[in-house]
Amino acid sequence: MLNNAEILSQLASRPGNYSLTRDLYCDQGAFQADLEQIWYKEWLFAIPSCEIPKTGNYATLQVGAYPVLIVRGGDGKIRAFHNVCRHRGQRLCSKATGSTAKLVCPYHQWTYELDGKLLYARDMGDDFDASKFGLKTVHCVDLNGMVFVCLAQVPPAIGELAKSLIPYLAPSGLLADAKVAHSSTIVEKGNWKLVIENNRECYHCSGSHPSLCRTYSDNPLMTVMEGPNAASPEILAHWDRCDKAGMPARFVSQADMQWRLARVPLLDHAESFTMSTKSAVTRLMGGMPWADAGSLMFYHFPSSWNHFLADHAIVFRLLPISPTETEVTTKWLVHKDAVEGKDYDLEKLTEVWLSTNDEDRRVVEENQNGIRSPAYEPGPYSKTQEEGVIHFVDWYVSLMKNRLNPAPAMAAE
Ligand code: FES
Ligand SMILES: [Fe+2]
Repeated sequence: MLNNAEILSQLASRPGNYSLTRDLYCDQGAFQADLEQIWYKEWLFAIPSCEIPKTGNYATLQVGAYPVLIVRGGDGKIRAFHNVCRHRGQRLCSKATGSTAKLVCPYHQWTYELDGKLLYARDMGDDFDASKFGLKTVHCVDLNGMVFVCLAQVPPAIGELAKSLIPYLAPSGLLADAKVAHSSTIVEKGNWKLVIENNRECYHCSGSHPSLCRTYSDNPLMTVMEGPNAASPEILAHWDRCDKAGMPARFVSQADMQWRLARVPLLDHAESFTMSTKSAVTRLMGGMPWADAGSLMFYHFPSSWNHFLADHAIVFRLLPISPTETEVTTKWLVHKDAVEGKDYDLEKLTEVWLSTNDEDRRVVEENQNGIRSPAYEPGPYSKTQEEGVIHFVDWYVSLMKNRLNPAPAMAAE
């Protein structure tokens, strides 16, 4: 198991634009460092807020060692807590989603208000001060329908992301006009970084994704953008059209590429990620102006990538389980008034990405299988096809180097 100094030395000796070492994809110590330096410190996309629309609705997720509970209170506000009872530590809620009037511990029935206050604890004596045993909070923000959580004591700034994400998401109506039509969770037997790397390029698409390639171009020029005015002619024309409709579409990103937003057209005016290339849902989302609005693509390292189409949205969340296992949850969102069987057919809505996820699972697992070999050595990325992977790995390497570097020694007196 690598220690931090060994991880640092492997990061420091990486040749630019090369994949990472075997240990960084397989080793338990490297995985633990990823959890501590990234997953326990960064904002993580958790759920779409429309998944918990009513008071008492909750959702849970496991971030490394931390079970987290997200619940909507009586005041309509969404809060996150450590999903751990303050009595003897029972996990409070074990289901992925549910609804409850109060949060009642299944062990000895300590009962908490939806805002985390301890309301009731049986036979704890007269000197027991319930106000000292409220649930521990986890930082939580709802950015226009996407709920992010952060386990750090002091979370990193999220203002810059909020400033862009809120207007870009507005036309999709996620906050008040969406619902979850379907949810799927799979476990990929691969390191979380391999799952993201695979997502950040379409070099593999023509060989792996026959159904996605009907509507999504694997030409890197169709998806790689350098700035709000620098992209392929097709994308620039789409941005002009979106500008006229008042729909934010142009490329915007954080300087270190931790996140990026841009709306790109699908192939040949395809409307949606369907086998027919037409919309899967007759009722468009929110205030989307046209069926062929393309996809607003939003990724955020380390936990999410997403597509916001005219007729539905697909949000993806990944969570690391072990050095070689990653949970990937996909949710399909539609207009809240769209009726299954009438306005959409669930199979037609979900089939392309259910297959694509399974195809990606297979390539990630085979990638991990190859990297396990002592014969594996880091290989070079293609600068035309894998620029997105380079962005991710550069982000990862520089963050880990900064955070693992021991503080400079105090000058001797
Ligand atoms: S551990 Fe929760 S009530 Fe005892
Ligand atoms: Fe893929």
